[in-house]
Amino acid sequence: MSRKLNLALIGAGRIGRLHAETIAFRIPEATLAAITDLRADLAEAVARRCAIPRVAISAGEIFQDPSVDAVLICSPTNTHAQLVIEAAQAGKHVFCEKPIDHSIEKIDRALKEVEKAGVKLQVGYNRRFDANFARVRKAIISAEIGRPHLLHIISRDPAPPPISYIKDSGGMFLDMTTHDFDMARFLIGDDVTQVYTAAGVRVDPQIGAAGDVDTAVIVLHFASGAIGTIDNCRKAPYGYDQRVEVLGSKGLIATENCYPNYAVISTADSVRRDLPLNFFLERYAQSFENELRAFVEAIIKDTPTPVTGADGRAPVVMGLAARKSYDEHRPVYLEEVGAAEGTATTRSL
Ligand SMILES: NC(=O)c1ccc[n+]([C@@H]2O[C@H](COP(=O)([O-])OP(=O)(O)OC[C@H]3O[C@@H](n4cnc5c(N)ncnc54)[C@H](O)[C@@H]3O)[C@@H](O)[C@H]2O)c1
Repeated sequence: MSRKLNLALIGAGRIGRLHAETIAFRIPEATLAAITDLRADLAEAVARRCAIPRVAISAGEIFQDPSVDAVLICSPTNTHAQLVIEAAQAGKHVFCEKPIDHSIEKIDRALKEVEKAGVKLQVGYNRRFDANFARVRKAIISAEIGRPHLLHIISRDPAPPPISYIKDSGGMFLDMTTHDFDMARFLIGDDVTQVYTAAGVRVDPQIGAAGDVDTAVIVLHFASGAIGTIDNCRKAPYGYDQRVEVLGSKGLIATENCYPNYAVISTADSVRRDLPLNFFLERYAQSFENELRAFVEAIIKDTPTPVTGADGRAPVVMGLAARKSYDEHRPVYLEEVGAAEGTATTRSL
């Protein structure tokens, strides 16, 4: 393809604005031809900032535009599955923010349409594109640390979101842990077959009143026999805590948090440093750019996207299984909540 790839963006909120800026200012191979949001003022503001020539009235208007090659779906999660279906039926390639949906049935319907239309789909699990985690994956692929035995993911937010957000989020496992479930599959390069959850409400009783948990450890059993843990909390007083460690047969690889600077201040009282990068927009800034670059490249070179529909489905199955395990106080096989259905959790890792 010699011309620039024509993209359109649906949803000009928090993540939509970020993706618009990335395309406009950092990816010369693509351009944003149109943007839409239920709130025209938001779409117009992003259009002005990113020099997007057209604000469309609806996603439908974008799908009907033959000059649009691909769409970025950045609207709320409950709109994703239907928009993926309509985009695929219109022959557009799709980048869809995570998660695709909270319902496996709806995900399967959307993935069927994608398959039928033969368009590309990439799901927004951006952390795969973080340099630290990519290095851990590389160590596992190259057997630098041998066969992986144990994985530990620490993933703690600096502070919980507002209760209004929690109520619509689908719960911590589908909203927050979803990234860690994806990270577990990505790093080990294997599917999880069973999960066991210990969880509670330690941070804010209002989160419990909303039917959710805010603190959890989830034990993962991989098909290969490797074992993993995910350690989540909605509040770490020292900031965003994002680390992984993998122990293999030949050694260990571990990542540290990322900081705005690496200065160490030593005085008579203490040796200290500044807090880690505060939250996901800062900590994962480069990964958001890298994932869109990968999406654009997959279309231009006609290669598979690096985070497929099956990769988007698997963390939702894992999230549903984690909640079931918590509710029923027992280990849960992923098959119990839909792993065996359709494309299952297998591929592409
Ligand atoms: N990958 C990540 O780390 C990451 C981070 C944040 C959000 N997300 C995901 O991105 C999605 C959006 O999250 P957000 O925080 O940007 O939400 P947001 O509420 O800030 O923005 C969503 C926007 O979509 C608009 N919208 C709603 N329905 C629409 C429709 N049918 N057509 C067009 N626009 C519509 C809303 O008016 C709003 O402006 C969610 O699925 C979320 O899970 C992913």
